[in-house]
Amino acid sequence: ERFPSWFVKVPAAMDTSASCTFTSCLLIGLTQKYPPVKFLSEKDRKRILITGGAGFVGSHLTDKLMMDGHEVTVVDNFFTGRKRNVEHWIGHENFELINHDVVEPLYIEVDQIYHLASPASPPNYMYNPIKTLKTNTIGTLNMLGLAKRVGARLLLASTSEVYGGKGRAPHPVLCEDSNKVNVTVRSVFQEGVEVRVARIFNTFGSRMHMNDGRVVSNFILQALQGEPLTVYGTGSQTRAFQYVSDLVNGLVALMNSNISSPVNLGNPEEHTILEFAQMIKSLVVSRSHIQFLPEAQDDPQRRRPDIRKAKMLLGWEPVVPLEEGLNKTIQYFSKELEHQANNQYIPKPKAARMKKSRPRHN
Ligand SMILES: NC(=O)c1ccc[n+]([C@@H]2O[C@H](COP(=O)([O-])OP(=O)(O)OC[C@H]3O[C@@H](n4cnc5c(N)ncnc54)[C@H](O)[C@@H]3O)[C@@H](O)[C@H]2O)c1
Repeated sequence: ERFPSWFVKVPAAMDTSASCTFTSCLLIGLTQKYPPVKFLSEKDRKRILITGGAGFVGSHLTDKLMMDGHEVTVVDNFFTGRKRNVEHWIGHENFELINHDVVEPLYIEVDQIYHLASPASPPNYMYNPIKTLKTNTIGTLNMLGLAKRVGARLLLASTSEVYGGKGRAPHPVLCEDSNKVNVTVRSVFQEGVEVRVARIFNTFGSRMHMNDGRVVSNFILQALQGEPLTVYGTGSQTRAFQYVSDLVNGLVALMNSNISSPVNLGNPEEHTILEFAQMIKSLVVSRSHIQFLPEAQDDPQRRRPDIRKAKMLLGWEPVVPLEEGLNKTIQYFSKELEHQANNQYIPKPKAARMKKSRPRHN
């Protein structure tokens, strides 16, 4: 999925960022193709900012909004994101990529802001906790300030983690009165900034980080590398994963709705960790065996989103079957492994989230 069939890559020798001669510029113009982009009249075309747009979810959102015909500006400091995720748009007249840290103020004119910039997986947000805090507080304040200044609507990518774990199946209204994000959102709303809040549940797909210690990435990597698939405890804990294109459709529907309270976006189809391991092993056709390790103390028994609100108010629900999503992700991982092997780099799956030296399934 990283280089779809319609995309003809410009040879490195003709890098658009380098100054080019008349002939090579002409050649670039003739050879560089972009994904098909809809034409939108000026009235319907929006100027959209995606913070964290070079990351896993952000880059898929960029693809959708670009293909829908909007003007997209991606702002990213490339902490966990990378240019490769959006390079197929570089040079397109509707696309702009800015290397910028959201902790610093940003002055641009936009109609909508998808605020996704934040390290998402445990090893990444624990790498520099102070910086993570700054990104999530100062960065969010900066984006809210920008939204207020230019009259843009802002969608905040929040996480299902706010619901906590310990066997609960999260309910959409559980935290509405209790967490700080909502207090912020409410007061900002009263200040005249339109805010949308997406509570994002576990998501997987191409361009996800290969060694971030999450269940899907760990199992795929282990299966592809012929290593044991490590299951903590009996594997009877359940998890529910949505494919990234479903999430992206949900984010766009939410942004364009009039719902100002948080909305859960996730796939409610639950599977046990053991089922995930078996399914991935069989899809990869791997010789790996499943290895059971001691149970982790703080591993939630159940994680399943309640998406009734999204269904009722947005008419949204996930449509990509788990097996189809897994196959696409496996394909992406094998290509990445091939690419990295050619560059003499073999990533190792990390133990799941470490807390007091104990792993758990994310
Ligand atoms: N993927 C999931 O399952 C999931 C679940 C819940 C919530 N979310 C939220 O969705 C958003 C995107 O997650 P993702 O999985 O795509 O993660 P990701 O790490 O792939 O993307 C985050 C992007 O933000 C950028 N970034 C980080 N700090 C920044 C800063 N200070 N300034 C500018 N850019 C910065 C990173 O470089 C990266 O490109 C995050 O806010 C995350 O908390 C994701």
